[in-house]
Amino acid sequence: MLLCHETTAWARLQAHWRQEVRAIDLCAQFERDGDRLTALSQRAPHLWADLSKNWLLPDTPALLLQLARECGVMAWRDAMFAGEAVNTTEQRAAMHWLLRTPLDGGRLAGSAPQRRWDASVREALREVDETLQAMLRLAEQVRSDGSITDVVHIGIGGSYLGPEVVVQALQGLAHGGKRIHFVANVDGAEIGSVLRPLRMQATLFLVASKSFTTAETMMNAHAARDWFLAQGGSEEAAHPHSIARHFVALTAQPEAAARFGITRTLGFRDWVGGRYSLWSAIGLPIAIAVGAQAFRALLAGAHEMDAHFLAAAPEANLPLRLGLMDVWYRDFCGLASRCIAPYSHGLRRLPAYLQQLEMESNGKGVTREGRPLHVPTAPVIWGEPGTNGQHAFFQMLHQGQDVVPVEFIAVREPGGSLPGHHHDLVVNAVAQARALMAGSSASEPHRRSPGNRPSTFVLLDRLDPAALGALIALYEHRVFVSGAVWGINSFDQWGVELGKCLARDLFERERSGNWDGVDPSTRALMVQLGV
Ligand code: F6P
Repeated sequence: MLLCHETTAWARLQAHWRQEVRAIDLCAQFERDGDRLTALSQRAPHLWADLSKNWLLPDTPALLLQLARECGVMAWRDAMFAGEAVNTTEQRAAMHWLLRTPLDGGRLAGSAPQRRWDASVREALREVDETLQAMLRLAEQVRSDGSITDVVHIGIGGSYLGPEVVVQALQGLAHGGKRIHFVANVDGAEIGSVLRPLRMQATLFLVASKSFTTAETMMNAHAARDWFLAQGGSEEAAHPHSIARHFVALTAQPEAAARFGITRTLGFRDWVGGRYSLWSAIGLPIAIAVGAQAFRALLAGAHEMDAHFLAAAPEANLPLRLGLMDVWYRDFCGLASRCIAPYSHGLRRLPAYLQQLEMESNGKGVTREGRPLHVPTAPVIWGEPGTNGQHAFFQMLHQGQDVVPVEFIAVREPGGSLPGHHHDLVVNAVAQARALMAGSSASEPHRRSPGNRPSTFVLLDRLDPAALGALIALYEHRVFVSGAVWGINSFDQWGVELGKCLARDLFERERSGNWDGVDPSTRALMVQLGV
């Protein structure tokens, strides 16, 4: 397989950018091309996407689709949905899509990849269904257990970001239910502030860790257990407030959970990637917050997006179009970051979730086969909810020297917002997208905004479980597309190991007193810490 930059399409796109698109005038494009909006916007499950304010000319999408074909993107997509080992460095499948697939295959049934499912995939689907039923039963038990008022979810990275985003976004459905708390950071201030107001008797702990080895999660889980016992809890299973009753493990390593002393475990397999796991047992806090029916609706919305990604024609395949546009901005337009601006309080943690999804999936420099990449890959993903961002960093987006594509995500229906407030919110988002494109030609330089700044507008029909599931699945597949163009394995994360290893080394040196070979800066910092 050629490296992406060795393809014919890549050279054509470079020329296209240099000779035509670099000088694009977005406003003029709308005047010249009456079909621009139609050609560059579309429906997809539970949402509408407007790509027309992006640096795209009429020929750009076709050239990008040719790049996808030459990089084998659709073949890799089909391999993922066929349950093949697309996670090449760990020899695993990446079947987060299976977690939301109905037992009968649902909308994937009869598709070419589904016909390639072997017995292991069919067995995995049965296992997924069993675990889902067990998880939903447990969730409903907790929801109806009046003695439990608080649920503390302990996890980090993909073992908490997804559940946190969804629980917050669906807060309207969770009203009056259990209070769900998330603890991730190893900074004891976080778990301390969560535990302080709680009552041991009324608290359920969820220890969420795929590996059940992550240092932060283990340290926090031990702190929770120590607190629980100090408050009168017991390790005796027969005790009314036992570890067994008040702790549940969500992990791919049930034996490790048992060694910790947790006997209630909801499991999942290693083909669930950490940052793709909210659909699995890791999603228990979601089901506790919103109930079984809403959790199934979340899965169904994601499944609809899966089917769209698999079946929609390339020209109207939204994950494909967005993923290709991410490559376009990163490698041809030279834009090194993307701003996520969710105009929705409920989606306020979406930027943080997408940071891990995109930067941990595609922030890499070698291909699946270990060959060095000669082109930039994942952009820096950052952002804050609107309208807050308008009072923080939109100044730079409008008048700064760096162009940053902005992703507006808004919700058509007010949901839990106050109607007047919601209308102001979404009109502000529309106005900001327009201002980025149109700019201003004020006479005084300091009032001038260059304009011509690109943005994408995603409008969810409503902030309900199905639309949220579709949105998150859209981003999962979009990241897959750009990774597939770059030839990256988007499902491993070897880069996080070095930092963990060097932290362990410092702890060991602290114990041994041997600082040979440690650079002066590191040594001085440890001295500053009193070591
Ligand atoms: O950041 C590294 C990472 O492995 C993530 O991929 C993962 O989501 C997180 O740490 C937590 O891992 P675990 O679920 O195994 O505790």
